[in-house]
Amino acid sequence: MARREQSFICQNCGAAYGRWQGKCDACGEWNTIAEESSATARPSLPGRAPRKGRLFALEPLAGDAHEAPRLACGLAEFDRVTGGGFVRGSVLLLGGDPGIGKSTLLIQVAAALARGGHRAIYISGEEAVAQVRLRAERLGLAGAKIELAAETSVEDIVATLGEREPPRLAIIDSIQTMWTDTVESAPGTVTQVRASAQALIRFAKRSGAAVILVGHVTKDGQIAGPRVVEHMVDAVLSFEGEGSHQFRILRAVKNRFGPTDEIGVFEMTGAGLREIANPSELFLSERDLGSPGTAVFAGIEGSRPLLVEIQALVAPTSLGTPRRAVVGWDQSRLSMVLAVLEAHCGVRLSGHDVYLNVAGGLRIQEPAADLAAAAALVSSLANAPLPADAVYFGEISLSGAVRPVAQAAARLKEAQKLGFARAVVPEAARSEGGGSESGLALQSVSSLASLVSDIAARGTRAARADRRAVGDA
Ligand code: TYD
Ligand code: MG
Repeated sequence: MARREQSFICQNCGAAYGRWQGKCDACGEWNTIAEESSATARPSLPGRAPRKGRLFALEPLAGDAHEAPRLACGLAEFDRVTGGGFVRGSVLLLGGDPGIGKSTLLIQVAAALARGGHRAIYISGEEAVAQVRLRAERLGLAGAKIELAAETSVEDIVATLGEREPPRLAIIDSIQTMWTDTVESAPGTVTQVRASAQALIRFAKRSGAAVILVGHVTKDGQIAGPRVVEHMVDAVLSFEGEGSHQFRILRAVKNRFGPTDEIGVFEMTGAGLREIANPSELFLSERDLGSPGTAVFAGIEGSRPLLVEIQALVAPTSLGTPRRAVVGWDQSRLSMVLAVLEAHCGVRLSGHDVYLNVAGGLRIQEPAADLAAAAALVSSLANAPLPADAVYFGEISLSGAVRPVAQAAARLKEAQKLGFARAVVPEAARSEGGGSESGLALQSVSSLASLVSDIAARGTRAARADRRAVGDA
């Protein structure tokens, strides 16, 4: 008789081992290795011919490609991120820190959908029905026609959801609390999460209902449980925000049916999440006018222009190795900008600590922020406030040149809309941005060095004015 081969498979990354161990060497996760039989799943019985494959029809690629029918929930900021609404039978994973507002967001989404006359079901595995009701009441949604349950058994949930006409949207809050009979491990374990997700995804594909799975995020920002769930679902959304700030950003990390660079902006208020249709106003609302070290960056997030303040502090260091700390921007981009300032602009920073912060807890990924970051840094070092009515954008190359960036016209238009009067931009943006049409005075800079000398000149002027003021007194 053939010996049944046993092997040990990491349930997180799929690495195989000859014997059990506590930690997976491949992905570094603990307690994810489980014993699996490597024999074929259903060995053919002796004496019986192996099952012949069922024939299925192959379809041509060119054909009736009926556009995935979408169902917009009515919450514009949410629909923007999903790419225009829920696709039939699609499964979304919503991740975020505990307490960030996932349950709040989803109950609002469900209510918006129910208001449109669609059937929406909310299954909570973490809270009792009474608690969910209490929250809905607080949000002023008590009258919404959402169907509720507090359940954790996937088999029961799938049976109930599939009983009548399937809902248009089913929310499972959260996937880590779900468990299925088909596997033995405890709820929340990798195996359970994966099997439960699989069952729910199968349900979605079969019934055409859109399913949202809520996923908790671990300390290092990963959606807890197997990364494979991220591969299994159609879209992964992440709900982010700084604890101390009231606004929240919804971002698509992966989206099979839409863009991944759109963001939705919300503000957490006493009555739930409020949509912010014009985020620039929010990010600039607490501006510290007239102090050195701040520059407004005209950015683009997805298809939308977004103005944010970049703050820098450059101060003499008392340490052997000066500190470089950055929040909301890329550490290596900061290092690059600092290197260019030293190498090409004569700015000595080796004796200074440098702190850079993107106001409001936003995270910027665009290289177009280089120019604004550099302006803020030099402004802080020279103690020279930048003009309060100016915005900055442009990419800095290692040679110290300021390079053009995409969508200059949209950036300028947004700046004008918010009352800015001038823009410091790469040379090419002047023609491309439509110059005079934007209504802004454009100052084009071809090299970082010229911007630095401009700001330094402002600093000396300001210092002279200060001395005069002191002399007068
Ligand atoms: P919740 O949606 O329960 O977070 P999650 O499901 O992501 O864990 O939101 C909890 C937080 O939101 C809590 O700290 C209180 C705050 N909150 C408000 O500020 N206003 C509200 O109207 C609601 C419902 C919650
Ligand atoms: Mg919750």
